Amino acid sequence: MFDTEHSFPTQAFIGGRWEDARDGRTFAVIDPATGDLIANVADCSEADTVSAIEAAHGAQAGWASTTAAERATILRRWRDLFVEHADDLATLLMRENGKPFAEARGEVLYGASYLEWFSEEARRVYGDIIPAPAGNKRVLVIRQPVGVCAAITPWNFPNAMLSRKVAAALAAGCTMVAKPAEDTPLSALAIANLGAQAGVPDGVFNVVPTSRPKLVGGALTGSDLVRKISFTGSTQVGRLLLEQAAGTIKKTSMELGGNAPFIVFDDADLEAAADGLMLSKFRNAGQTCVCANRIFVQAGVMEKFSDLVRERVSRLKVARGDVAGADIGPLINANAVRKVERLVDSACRDGAKLVIGGERHAAGELFYTPTILANVQPRMDIAQEEIFGPVVAMISFNTEAEAISMANDTPFGLAAYAYTRDLGRAWRIGERLDYGMVGINDSALSNAAAPFGGVKQSGMGREGSRYGLDDYLEIKYLLMGGLGA
Ligand code: SIN
Repeated sequence: MFDTEHSFPTQAFIGGRWEDARDGRTFAVIDPATGDLIANVADCSEADTVSAIEAAHGAQAGWASTTAAERATILRRWRDLFVEHADDLATLLMRENGKPFAEARGEVLYGASYLEWFSEEARRVYGDIIPAPAGNKRVLVIRQPVGVCAAITPWNFPNAMLSRKVAAALAAGCTMVAKPAEDTPLSALAIANLGAQAGVPDGVFNVVPTSRPKLVGGALTGSDLVRKISFTGSTQVGRLLLEQAAGTIKKTSMELGGNAPFIVFDDADLEAAADGLMLSKFRNAGQTCVCANRIFVQAGVMEKFSDLVRERVSRLKVARGDVAGADIGPLINANAVRKVERLVDSACRDGAKLVIGGERHAAGELFYTPTILANVQPRMDIAQEEIFGPVVAMISFNTEAEAISMANDTPFGLAAYAYTRDLGRAWRIGERLDYGMVGINDSALSNAAAPFGGVKQSGMGREGSRYGLDDYLEIKYLLMGGLGA
């Protein structure tokens, strides 16, 4: 699959060339499951970032002037290469992120689905003709690419979060400079490699890996040539990027942290709710922004629902991603494990009851045992913060109004879930939860055709779906006058 001296690329990809960092620095990428070194990767700084921005700027006009059909063909070829090399991409992703191989492969195909989706949407960037104020005038609206975009992507989905940004940007006619997370830069470089094979012209897509995110992030946000920043990551970093981007008034898309409520009513299909919870809570060992974080269960079914969840959690296999049947891999790094420990310990000190788990796992230093906590209270840290680990925090409620009020009592608003068989309640809940995405009797929200994104401090903008292109397009109003009577 790869054509460098390594079995996979480890240099920066700038203007269609593989390059070392100008100051010669590299940084180590470590397998979180074993602690082994996977590769030393070019450690870019401002100078490399500026050169990538200039490459993207140089390619912008040419790329914007390609036809939608040309862009669609390249994106489709890129998608086909993802599918053809899905096992290689998944192996790389599993090694740098730790998630089980089957999940890593699922992520690669999820990433491919965005390339496919936007290869089709590229052809549907329509304008408008608006009734004019006089007979000799015409009012038109056209939509044009915003220009050079920067993508700053997270370690929890090193493939799919970049794929959905670059697919939308390139479909719209924008060029891009991507900065992948320092824990997981290899998937991004592999994606760039396949992009070049698919025919993405030099400079249209550039990747600057770094262990110095402030330097590279600062160069991206500070540049006048970069017209848009698309970020997926924590609310804290999003806030900082928004402040920095204000200096040059950039368009921004922010997919930030969540604190997802998962509400189980006493009329729900409890087996389906337990299955849905497992899917949402334990994907990527609980390290997703849309993970169920606070599990609200109506008092009358708490015992039965807890038993169903406990039975399922006790069957989870914690192991390295390459072990057959692995469900739960390691957390990404030592800080992540310490955070989960802190939240579980403080919840227990404050009166939560440990049902199962609550400790590190023998599989390795960064593995945490799937855990259930009962009797969690909404004011505990574990219910206020994003856990980002394999921990189910159960909170009891009595009425629908109480559930909605507790669920909305957070500055975040990314994803929410509710299980009920009552149709009226399903609509009320869907409309009253202050979240960008609500799953009713289903917890698998992610889908290239659907708009992914949050409200409140979970961010702004939408990724995927027909709305996802809007984030990469500017609206231009054209007034045509002097047309005669
Ligand atoms: C995320 O956790 O940020 C993304 C999850 C997804 O796209 O499904």
